[in-house]
Amino acid sequence: MRKYMVIGGAGYIGSHMTKLLCDNGESVVVVDNLSTGKAKLVDERATLVVCDIRNKEELSKVFEVHDIDGIYHFAADSQVGESMLNPIKYYNNNVGGLITLLEVMEEYKVRNIVFSSTAAVYGEKEIMPIKVDDSTNPTNPYGETKLAMEKIFKWVSKSSDINYAALRYFNVAGADSSGTIGELHDPETHLIPIIIDVALGNREKISIYGDDYPTEDGTCIRDYIHVSDLVNAHLLAMNHIEKENVSNTYNLGYGHGYSVKEIIESVERVTGTTIKSEVEGRRAGDPAELVADNEKIVRTLDWQPKFNDIDLIIGSAYKFHKNNK
Ligand code: UFG
Repeated sequence: MRKYMVIGGAGYIGSHMTKLLCDNGESVVVVDNLSTGKAKLVDERATLVVCDIRNKEELSKVFEVHDIDGIYHFAADSQVGESMLNPIKYYNNNVGGLITLLEVMEEYKVRNIVFSSTAAVYGEKEIMPIKVDDSTNPTNPYGETKLAMEKIFKWVSKSSDINYAALRYFNVAGADSSGTIGELHDPETHLIPIIIDVALGNREKISIYGDDYPTEDGTCIRDYIHVSDLVNAHLLAMNHIEKENVSNTYNLGYGHGYSVKEIIESVERVTGTTIKSEVEGRRAGDPAELVADNEKIVRTLDWQPKFNDIDLIIGSAYKFHKNNK
């Protein structure tokens, strides 16, 4: 049995990572400041330590008590709109948090880390799907802080024996089949949970942000990836850096996109309800289309997604939201 630290393990994706590691018989220490995470999402088999990674003294204590083999790092602010209004918060938490974490990792000789990056590092792209070697040009502070984190890792890995895997997520969606953990943001800004809320009668309608994009039906296209396939890729990435002693950056998506209207149709099929929608103006900063070229992660890690089906993804999210209405 190995012992892993999951930072941000009380959040949406971190809680799925924690459950997967526990299911695999690993020992897990969750570190989360509970600013957006929820203790109830943390698997009972894991140890939860409420700590902000910017607090070096507190964080060091966790490493003092637990002999950590590797780190999965999910803790970050991740709202594009909020980052435009408050960039300092994003630099402080995302970049500042990483620097303290790296200092403590070096001190305690923890060498391997897998962390969440984002498709937002690319900015506006003309050509789909986006290749991992395509140029990066974030159009908001959120993407900029994630790119800064990638660059910090790049130089630290060259000057030390720290290995990292940066996973550039496209649109994470869905929930574990247990229906006990899932996406709970407050306020919720993501498309799928909002439409599900309409299906459950918690909201009157979904606002479609723009139907005049240069796509087939005029609404934005995104590459929605099931959270269970996503966390499984983290496991493969960790195994790879542990064995091969390398660092890498990957795109993490299915390579196929759905429009906002297609997502609404899927929710209607899955839930058997009619979703009321209204077209509004475009949301600032939304690219028309974001689809991943995932060739590198499939080739390097032999990642084989199991839940690549939009109705299945939405069905799993619906099950969670119904349970947590
Ligand atoms: N949308 C609507 N109505 C809504 C909410 C969303 O029409 O009420 C549309 C958006 O305009 C967008 C699509 O649905 O076209 C998906 O929007 P989300 O907010 O669900 O997701 P984003 O693509 O904006 O953001 C995601 C992650 C970010 C990450 C980004 C990468 O949540 O963290 O992908 O560009 F930065």
